[in-house]
Amino acid sequence: MLNETEIQQLLERMTVDEKIGQLVQLTGSFFDNDENVITGPIGKIGIEKQKIKYTGSILNTLGAEKITNIQRNYLKQDRLGIPLIFMADIINGFKTIFPIPLALGCSFDPKLVKSTAQVAAQEAAVSGVHVTFSPMVDMVRDARWGRVMESFGEDTYLNNLFSQAMVEGYQGRNDRNLNIVSCVKHFAAYGAAIAGRDYNSVELSERALRQDYLPAYKAAVDAGCGLVMTSFNTIDGVPATANDYLLDQILRQEWGFDGVVISDYAAIKELIAHGVAKNEKEATRLSLNAGCDIDMMTSSYSNSLHQLLGEGTINESQLDKSVLRVLELKNKLGLFDNPYRNASQELEKELILCDEFRKIARDAVTKTCVLLKNDNILPLNKHSQFALVGPYAQNNNISGMWSFNVDKSQVVTVEEGIKQYVDNFKTVKGSPLIDDLHFLESLGAHGSQAEILNENAKDLLNEALQTVEDVDTVIVAIGEHPHQSGEGGSRGQLTLPQSQLELLRKLKMKRKKVITLLFSGRPLELSEVVQNSDAIIQCWFPGVEGGNGIADLLFGYANPSAKLAMTFPHSVGQCPIYYNHLNTGRPAIESSHSTRFTSRYIDIQNEPEFCFGYGLSYSQFKYSKVELDKKVMTKNETITASIKIENTSDRDGVETVQLYIRDLVGTVARPVKELKGVQKVYLQSKETKEVEFKITNDMLKFVQKDFSYDSEDGEFLVFIGGSSSIDNDIVFELIK
Ligand code: BGC
Repeated sequence: MLNETEIQQLLERMTVDEKIGQLVQLTGSFFDNDENVITGPIGKIGIEKQKIKYTGSILNTLGAEKITNIQRNYLKQDRLGIPLIFMADIINGFKTIFPIPLALGCSFDPKLVKSTAQVAAQEAAVSGVHVTFSPMVDMVRDARWGRVMESFGEDTYLNNLFSQAMVEGYQGRNDRNLNIVSCVKHFAAYGAAIAGRDYNSVELSERALRQDYLPAYKAAVDAGCGLVMTSFNTIDGVPATANDYLLDQILRQEWGFDGVVISDYAAIKELIAHGVAKNEKEATRLSLNAGCDIDMMTSSYSNSLHQLLGEGTINESQLDKSVLRVLELKNKLGLFDNPYRNASQELEKELILCDEFRKIARDAVTKTCVLLKNDNILPLNKHSQFALVGPYAQNNNISGMWSFNVDKSQVVTVEEGIKQYVDNFKTVKGSPLIDDLHFLESLGAHGSQAEILNENAKDLLNEALQTVEDVDTVIVAIGEHPHQSGEGGSRGQLTLPQSQLELLRKLKMKRKKVITLLFSGRPLELSEVVQNSDAIIQCWFPGVEGGNGIADLLFGYANPSAKLAMTFPHSVGQCPIYYNHLNTGRPAIESSHSTRFTSRYIDIQNEPEFCFGYGLSYSQFKYSKVELDKKVMTKNETITASIKIENTSDRDGVETVQLYIRDLVGTVARPVKELKGVQKVYLQSKETKEVEFKITNDMLKFVQKDFSYDSEDGEFLVFIGGSSSIDNDIVFELIK
């Protein structure tokens, strides 16, 4: 490692072009000719050719051999021997692909989530990656937004836990001491895009921003993440990438972040489209001034910084600050000692997709699939006769939009998973995966997608109806196409394709017992699915061990314990919908006004299809009333809230016990409920356990009228139960 003086000396030896280069990130395709995953306009980058050689970091190039070669060739020509840094989107795993983040959120289990990040770190590190653009901790409330699949859901408390867990998992020690640096994103509030349309503007009150959206980014910063990525959106009219209030005042000054800030893909140049910069030169000035160190994938910094320095609009010490941060990151990673770091083809072979990692992935599937309905049909007896139907039955494309590195041949399909337990069943497709052929064509339908275009929904349905003639039970694996969620995957409708719904209807008409396995990157409208299914498992996109984990659940080798991290709307018209809303002056239920003049819709219900925190188990749990050890506390004291929980069933299981608090009267209106604690409790059949939560003053704090962060005296309700819709509550008082 270099010491501070050595880094300073290195900086002093650098030319302006060399310095600027450190602030530019390009894909590896500028250095070799292989294809890379790109989400923005690569062809239009327009970077001056002679400047490419100064580039300081590389985006989304993977693999020990490739990265080692690029690094070696780069260092041969770099005058000062400053190594490249390789950054990539390792979102839900590297090659051992885990369930998508929204699914991981449903585990309500930070330890599990941390272990997935540890696995990803090890695989990525040996493949030569230094930094991952994860976690994404954008809080989300609108299922129309495609990127809800990348988030941990709608709750700030859970987001904080997972944010910290992911950063610790990537960066912390693990058995093999193979880690990578974490870049939290997208700063800030990208998840609040108006109407759920990707890249759309964000309008939030300062209070909502600070209370609900910022804490999870801060949790990552407090956990020591090395980088922060800006978001694409404007907030209060100012794009995040040029937002000095966010990047300087909040991030650097209030939170003391001293790492690197990187723009999102092409976000600097996009300041022109936002209408806050006339040209790239202005975009560069605004971003650098705001505190954005690295320009990802545009020519703005590369082509304009020199000129701005010449004009004196930006001074060299400003440039130096950003360059220094990048050099420090490289130093912290040990790249000056060993520019190849952990890249190793032998370790790639040994570790990637090894049994140990796959086991963690399989366990994660069982802990993230949410049992939404079960009319005494699951777990399924291995000896029962059933058929497997649906476009996800034999589909290995179940890792979600961001898993561009997945080896699909390594993915266990639902059919393969079931076959380890039973093999005398038939499988047919039953319906196309997607009815909207135009959508597929717009993706450039090729390969297996082209086959879909030739499918005839009626033929598939008829074949399925014949296949199920002799069985009572049908497992139906359906859902949205993986490309219908993720970046650029906003939807205005949250329905399943009509042909899939028709399949369910027809099976029900034939009086079959229907077990629906639902694959999606977001909450969908499910009322018809609920009507026509006897059981539903929300499988999300479960990754490489998907089929195995799902089969474990189907046959009762694992017992579901996951809970929804995001509300499922009854109808898309309710979006954004979330459990911790304010009460309004005319709440639909308790209001004294006539029904019409309350806060409700006249054509759809207020209640969601499934609320936040909801999820069934094969066990049944009975909660006692909540009890408190005392009814009054001062700010220095704590109160212990407890319940007894009994597993009344014949099956051992884990219940996710949730603590919610409501501040009944505040100087600003407070949510009807807020999650403040979670415990996963294992209960053997017929066992009873007492579960305790300590209520502290910190849990009662909120962003006050004057923007201080404190609690207020008064009465609070405490709820403990198995979902956010519980009314098992008791009151206590906070006094001075
Ligand atoms: C996404 C980021 C991602 C980046 C680099 C952007 O389009 O918004 O989340 O990290 O691309 O691939």
